[in-house]
Amino acid sequence: MTSHVKIFDTTLRDGEQAPGFSMDGGQKLRMARALSELGVDIIEAGFAIASPGDFAAVQKIAQEITDTTICSLARCNSSDIRAAGEAVAPAKHSRIHVFIATSPLHREFKLKMSKNEVIDRAIKGINLALEYTDDVEFSAEDAIRTERDYLKAVTEAAIAAGARTINIPDTVGYTTPEEIQNLFQFLTTEISGADKAIFSAHCHDDLGLAVANSLAAVRGGARQIECAMNGIGERAGNCALEEVTMALRTRHDFYHLETRINTKRINMVSKMLASITGNAVARNKAIVGKNAFAHESGIHQHGMLANRETYEIMKPEDIGLSPDTLILGKHSGRAALKHRAEKLGFTLSDNQLQSVFVDFKTLADTKREVFDADIEALILGEAISSTGPWSIDSLYVSAGSNESASPEATISLTHDDGRNVKGSKAASGPVNAVFLCLNALTGHDFHLDNFSVRSVTEGEDAMAEADVRVSTKFESYHGRGASTDTILAAARAYLDVINRIERQASRIGNDQQKIAAQH
Ligand code: KIV
Ligand code: ZN
Repeated sequence: MTSHVKIFDTTLRDGEQAPGFSMDGGQKLRMARALSELGVDIIEAGFAIASPGDFAAVQKIAQEITDTTICSLARCNSSDIRAAGEAVAPAKHSRIHVFIATSPLHREFKLKMSKNEVIDRAIKGINLALEYTDDVEFSAEDAIRTERDYLKAVTEAAIAAGARTINIPDTVGYTTPEEIQNLFQFLTTEISGADKAIFSAHCHDDLGLAVANSLAAVRGGARQIECAMNGIGERAGNCALEEVTMALRTRHDFYHLETRINTKRINMVSKMLASITGNAVARNKAIVGKNAFAHESGIHQHGMLANRETYEIMKPEDIGLSPDTLILGKHSGRAALKHRAEKLGFTLSDNQLQSVFVDFKTLADTKREVFDADIEALILGEAISSTGPWSIDSLYVSAGSNESASPEATISLTHDDGRNVKGSKAASGPVNAVFLCLNALTGHDFHLDNFSVRSVTEGEDAMAEADVRVSTKFESYHGRGASTDTILAAARAYLDVINRIERQASRIGNDQQKIAAQH
């Protein structure tokens, strides 16, 4: 059996479908580029049938990413499979992932289908998918709660029909390490045709066992792990990519298995996902949490000074963290910035470098010391924040404890279509005044669900990162803005939301025009 374990990343499908984690097409493409550079073998880019936006995002990723297999999910019916097939068609390496539920509960209450009908549907689905690509993956949804002899029959039929990968999902996060290891041992040795397919584990974290179960599945013979960055996914999430890959690497002495993951990029991809979705990882989260490599207690620090290995099983550098040192100042040039960005795991195009460099110079003028975290925030801001149609020309805010004059914001904006608008609003607080003023100038009005600001580094001149979440009647949106000025960061984050809403509206308008022109 091969010692290579394929990493199938489902951040953009199972992860993205979880409430609070949705991404637009541009954000998905940026994440897909980062995941490809991270070295995942397969990117599950979305569920093409779910919406025209999902279809377009999968197609765009399939057009652009050439080093990684691009996959779309489909139920075993023809419209799903055709949408998936068309969406991944431009990919250099494409995969269609078809699934149908096999457990008694799902057969009886969800599908209302007999055992034979489910097998029949699976075979038809695989056959249709094979018309689009020879790389077809089959998943037996809720496999863990499926009768073993029936699961054997389903997987044998799927392999005979031509599926190259057989995925055994623990859809409800119910299994245990001992049980899943035993199941994979059974499947990989007792199934006829097992040598023609790769067996895959897809574990959910409802009992906090997703990573342990995926590792146990690998011990049982699985050679593909389905996982997501920061462990995002349905309910409690999926197996965390960073945890499972670092476990395989750190305990190579035990597993003797390899992945293609360039672990030095883990920190960067994790931060990018947190920024894009507005969901910070918990401080104590394994591998990518802020405390994961912090040694606070005196006893630990004493041991670490004597020999790092006393308390450190992985080095921070292994995941791309470097000590937060003062590195650049206002006299530093483009080459130094590019070099530092590369050390932090970011590859910048010439245009991106130019734009980050301009922001960096502005920052270096206002801030005495520029740290790695500042540079990360600038790069992520460049990669993530919106680029119009609206931009801020000027912002002036007055605030204070004077009871006769309430806080007031005066803002001037420019729109890509050439409009210039300027206005003022007073409110009970300066941030509120900024938000009301931006609403009035752009003609938007929505419900503010959450607003938060955090400082990127320490010190009174630290950069602030603001996060805004709003909801309209139909959807919720997230926006981000950064600046050494907290109020400006808040304004940028709020305008980021407005820009996302306007860009989405114009995309929908364009799609409708295209459809109308075709009829
Ligand atoms: O959890 C699950 O069963 C899934 C399948 C669609 C693979 O996500
Ligand atoms: Zn899942």
